[in-house]
Amino acid sequence: MVRPYAVKGKKRKKKADVYDRAEEEEEAAAVAAEPEETETEEADKKRSQGNEAEERNGNPIELEGIPMAPAEINPKNGPGAIFILEKASLEVAKVGKTYQLLNSDEHSNFLRKNNKDPALYRPDILHQALLMVLDSPINKAGRLRNVYVRTAAGVLIEVKPYVRIPRTFKRFAGVMLQLLQKLSISAVGKREKLMRVIKNPVTQYLPVNSRKIGFSYSSEKLVNIQNYVASSENSADFVFVVGAMAHGKVEADYIEDFISISGYPLSAAYCITMICQALAGKWNIL
Ligand SMILES: C[S@@+](CC[C@H](N)C(=O)[O-])C[C@H]1O[C@@H](n2cnc3c(N)ncnc32)[C@H](O)[C@@H]1O
Repeated sequence: MVRPYAVKGKKRKKKADVYDRAEEEEEAAAVAAEPEETETEEADKKRSQGNEAEERNGNPIELEGIPMAPAEINPKNGPGAIFILEKASLEVAKVGKTYQLLNSDEHSNFLRKNNKDPALYRPDILHQALLMVLDSPINKAGRLRNVYVRTAAGVLIEVKPYVRIPRTFKRFAGVMLQLLQKLSISAVGKREKLMRVIKNPVTQYLPVNSRKIGFSYSSEKLVNIQNYVASSENSADFVFVVGAMAHGKVEADYIEDFISISGYPLSAAYCITMICQALAGKWNIL
């Protein structure tokens, strides 16, 4: 089984090996439970040769086992969408002998002992949100430009649209832990960074003429997202800012319009799904 991710940085030390081995076993078990994603060594080899050819041609690299690589990101495809997931709960702490990504299910005692509210430690919200945006037809059609994640502590992370995010939470937590410790994650044997910590502010990475839209249940501007997106300017890129936290409101001074898209409080993942469907309607992506 080929590990789908490699981390740039120092070689692993023995202590970390224990954690890594456990994680590798989990990955192997999880992949075995997803037969459509299992590959033979032969297929791995062919894909890796293909990747090298693709890299030489300057095209985006496909990861081993990646379930969907969208069409090449090409500005000629038309305007695109960028998602910014704000206030994501991604905090690492040493629990016992190992560093772990804190979450309310596994670390409630640890969090209470450290006077922290377990209800705020919800990296699963970010996991679901990322899966929804990366699985969307607009990504498969090559219209998702990038995803940015800003943690509650203000760390900014760039996520490439063709990364394959682990589908199980345990594996996701392992990958995010590595990302926060080593600052970038690449595909095996490749230089291209699929996820990396980058410098704030996020505005320096946004297209100049993009329309920056914030989402909150508490906004007084309740709109039908299908109509809102359909009536927006056709040539501008969209930037959607959605909260990836359990409580609170998205706050960002670069947002031009703050909208609510339902009379009900939604999960971040459902909110993103509604946005992606509205975009697919506007861009005629089925
Ligand atoms: C779990 S909610 C956060 C809960 C928070 N009390 C709130 O509604 O802002 C995650 C995110 O989904 C988006 N969201 C949830 N319900 C929404 C609605 N009805 N309209 C627009 N965005 C919504 C917001 O961006 C929110 O930050």
